[in-house]
Amino acid sequence: MKIAALSDIHFGTPGSEDWCYEAAPEKLRQAVSRINRDLQPDVTLILGDLLEDPGAKDARARMDTLYEIFSALTGPWFAIRGNHDVPAEAFHAVFPPPPDFLDLAGGRLLAFPRDPDEPAYRSSRSPSELKRLAKARENFSGPLVAVQHVPVVPPELALARYNYINAEEVLAAMQDADVGLSLSGHDHKGFPLTRYEGTWLCAIPPFCQPPHAVACIRYQLSEKPVVTVVAERD
Ligand SMILES: [Fe+2]
Ligand SMILES: [Fe+2]
Repeated sequence: MKIAALSDIHFGTPGSEDWCYEAAPEKLRQAVSRINRDLQPDVTLILGDLLEDPGAKDARARMDTLYEIFSALTGPWFAIRGNHDVPAEAFHAVFPPPPDFLDLAGGRLLAFPRDPDEPAYRSSRSPSELKRLAKARENFSGPLVAVQHVPVVPPELALARYNYINAEEVLAAMQDADVGLSLSGHDHKGFPLTRYEGTWLCAIPPFCQPPHAVACIRYQLSEKPVVTVVAERD
């Protein structure tokens, strides 16, 4: 399974925050061309924080601009919301919600676009969403990949700057479902592949900051995923 992923665009108004990123459209068009031409992934994931300010008057126009850019992807793609995006209903009025799960190239992707924001830039997963992990494993023996904006990290690790407030519960459900890879954004430091029991955890670096990275993840069952970063030039 080959996945292209980018996250944390923070498309916003110049000058309002350090990482607002007015040049996003041009950089993203370059990234989309490169994904189509060079990476040709099975799927492209946009992992949240597409906007900087969800309350801005032009938030919808900015989302429309981003949708138009991503629509040039020649392969399947979907976007999930982050804590800087508009609420899920409004977000998915522009970006179609991902399917319950997506089968491709022998693997299965399971996205969690509706995990709510929690205080201190954290998130949580409800019991019914946790059950989706077990359901995705029913009658399926291939690689299972979980996708969410906020990284799910064992609380004892230094990587857990943000996290799920019920991370232990989410990680246990991932183990039970034999999720091999958990992909996220949100942490602008990113972090490299980190093994937790049977699951590889990864937070990809933010697109809003140089080198404006697109991650390419190759993942086969029982093998360590290979993550390479394709950087757009400034
Ligand atoms: Fe972000
Ligand atoms: Fe975020």
